Amino acid sequence: MDSFALDARQAWNQGADAFIHFVDSGADYYRLLVHGPALRAVCGEVRGARVLDLGCGHGYFSRLLARAGALVTGIDLSDQLLARALQQEQETPLGITYHHLDATQLDTHLDANSYDLVTGCMSLQDISDPAKVLSAAQRVLCARGRAVFSIPHPCTDTPYREWLRDEQGNKRALSLDGYFASGPAICHWTMARLKYPWSTPFHRFTLTEWSALFAQAGFTIRGLHEPRPSAEVLAQQPQLEDCARMPFFLLFDLAKAPFTTGESPSRVSG
Ligand SMILES: C[S@@+](CC[C@H](N)C(=O)[O-])C[C@H]1O[C@@H](n2cnc3c(N)ncnc32)[C@H](O)[C@@H]1O
Repeated sequence: MDSFALDARQAWNQGADAFIHFVDSGADYYRLLVHGPALRAVCGEVRGARVLDLGCGHGYFSRLLARAGALVTGIDLSDQLLARALQQEQETPLGITYHHLDATQLDTHLDANSYDLVTGCMSLQDISDPAKVLSAAQRVLCARGRAVFSIPHPCTDTPYREWLRDEQGNKRALSLDGYFASGPAICHWTMARLKYPWSTPFHRFTLTEWSALFAQAGFTIRGLHEPRPSAEVLAQQPQLEDCARMPFFLLFDLAKAPFTTGESPSRVSG
C-alpha cells in the first residue's frame, strides 16, 4: 500500500463515525437528493447485473443497487466504514458481499470478465492511483461492461471557492480560482452539519486529465451528467439552491468497449 492509501485509510477510519452519521441522519442532502439518485439513474436497469462498487464506504450506493436487484460486491479501504456496511447487511440482508481491499490491488483479487458494471459513488477521486484502478476495472468488466463514477465537479471544486454575498447575506455569485492546480490535495470536512471535523486526501484533476485517464485505461465516455435538483426537490430542501445554480457534481458514464457503428453516446443531461 502506498503512502497516499495509508493516509486515506487512517483518515477515513478517523472520520468514519462522522461520515456515517452525516449520511444516515439525512444531513448529506446533496447526496441523498441530488448526486446519489443521479448516479443510480445513470446505472439504468441493474436487475441480475454483477456490480463492483469501488470505495463503497459503509455501503450507501451498494445498497441502492442491491435493492434494485443487482448482485453487488463492495470494496473499501476503511475497516471502520466496512464494519458498518457489514452490520447493516446482517441487520437487513441484501446479498451484498463486502471485501476489505485497496482498490489499487483489484488485479490480484478479482477475476477478469466477472462484472457487468463497476461503480464509484464519490470515491474515484479519493483512491490513491486512479489510473491503476481504472485499468483494473477494465480487466474485471465483461466485454459489454460499463463503469459509472460520480466525483465533485472539477470546475467548481477548486482550491479557492467562496460565495460572494450581498448586504442581506444572499449568495450573489460563486467566486472560484485554481482550477488548473491539479494533484494530491486535502479535503477538510468542516461543515456545521458534521458530528466532528476530519480531513481526507484526494486527487484534483482537470477535465482534460480525467478524460485522458479514461482513454488511457481503454474506456469510451458514453455520457457526462451534471445533476442538479428539480423544482420539487428544491422546494423540499431549499439549501440545495447553490447546486441548482452551479454544477457541484460530475458523473461519468463509461463503456469498456469502443463504440460500434449504430451505437450513439448517451444524452448529455442536466
Ligand atoms: C467519499 S467516500 C464515499 C463512500 C461511498 N462510496 C459513499 O458514497 O458513501 C470515499 C471512500 O473511498 C474509500 N477509499 C479511499 N481510498 C481507497 C482505496 N485505495 N481503495 C478502496 N477504497 C478507498 C474511502 O475509504 C471512502 O469510503
